Amino acid sequence: MNLCNRFSLSTLVYFFCGLATCYAQQTADALHQRANAAMCANCHGTEGKSVDGSAVPSITGMSKDYMVLQMKAFKDGTRPATVMHQLTKGLSDAQIESIASYYANNKR
Ligand code: HEC
Repeated sequence: MNLCNRFSLSTLVYFFCGLATCYAQQTADALHQRANAAMCANCHGTEGKSVDGSAVPSITGMSKDYMVLQMKAFKDGTRPATVMHQLTKGLSDAQIESIASYYANNKR
């Protein structure tokens, strides 16, 4: 094998390894996002869809901007709540953004 072939082979190997790492990272991020969003399912229902007539509102398909605003209002106490104050205090702004994107991309 001459030097040129050796170079292109290792380039290919690096390329595919790079792709695999990138794919693994995206999968991990998606799983992390889904795990955070699953916290809400206990009260807001599976995939954020609560049963009709429930006191807990559905959050599936809610606009991202609206959810981020409400979550931050719960977190700083400007919106009155029963349980959402405690919950949002445990979330970083980045986690709130990520969870809001997850539900905004869900179909109602
Ligand atoms: C322990 C039950 C419980 C859990 C868990 C929970 N919620 Fe809530 N959520 C409520 C209740 C009850 C309300 C009504 C406000 C209140 O009384 O706190 C509410 C209200 C909301 C609202 C306002 C809805 C609107 O129409 O304005 C949003 C947004 C929301 N929750 C998002 C979330 C997200 C996102 C999670 C997960 C990180 C979550 N909630 C987890 C019980 C819960």
